[in-house]
Amino acid sequence: MKLSHYESKPLNALGKVAWSREEDDIWQRLISRQLSCIEGKACHEYLEGLSMLNLSEDHVPQLTDINKVLDKATGWQLEPVPALIDFDRFFALLASKRFPVATFLRSVADLDYLQEPDYFHEIFGHCAMLTHKAFADFTQLYGQLGVKATKAERVYLARLYWFTVEFGLIESSGHRSLYGGGILSSPAETDYAYSSHVPLRKKLDVVDVMRTPYRIDILQPVYFYLESLDALYELQQLDLMACVHRAMSLGLHPPCYREKIA
Ligand SMILES: [Fe+2]
Repeated sequence: MKLSHYESKPLNALGKVAWSREEDDIWQRLISRQLSCIEGKACHEYLEGLSMLNLSEDHVPQLTDINKVLDKATGWQLEPVPALIDFDRFFALLASKRFPVATFLRSVADLDYLQEPDYFHEIFGHCAMLTHKAFADFTQLYGQLGVKATKAERVYLARLYWFTVEFGLIESSGHRSLYGGGILSSPAETDYAYSSHVPLRKKLDVVDVMRTPYRIDILQPVYFYLESLDALYELQQLDLMACVHRAMSLGLHPPCYREKIA
């Protein structure tokens, strides 16, 4: 497991984190920039979730407040975790409708980009969608499958998560919108995924997705779109582990990016 130079902040007996003035200021900068960046680009389900969450803009919101909204909407809860957790714990949490959130916020130096998921990414990127039943149920199913999967199978499952929960688009009748948390928490990726002519955008096919390699440290060269979020229900009807095995037997597509030089 890769080491992080960040550490999660402790929670007090009431489940609250003592965020500093500096962290409140960083949150304010991140959220005000991103709220204007996603305008007209985020899907309406995300925006509805965001409005339910009513995240504060002048200070870092507390997990306890977000949990009240998630509990009412879909029964999900946020689970405070260390900066990095292993896959066994990650899948087990999702399977029990608990979304892991590391309680650290990026520093000013990392304001524009941070490879590891910080509090802003988890809260602003993912929580709004967790109020949406199709998305929340799909995330839970992913956890349930991951718990039982082998290490090799998990790698294929992870690509489905990456290209939906993290980097998913919606496209229908020529209209594009964004729902992936990796996109919606990043100004650069929001503009790129929505507007750029450079990346490839493909209609989501599960086996195709599972065969598509990705890099976590670049703007994505390929995105997969659903025609609506209801398609996440259709995905749940599929035998996704059979799709994993089909993808494994067909093998990976050649990457559409340059390999990272170690
Ligand atoms: Fe994420």
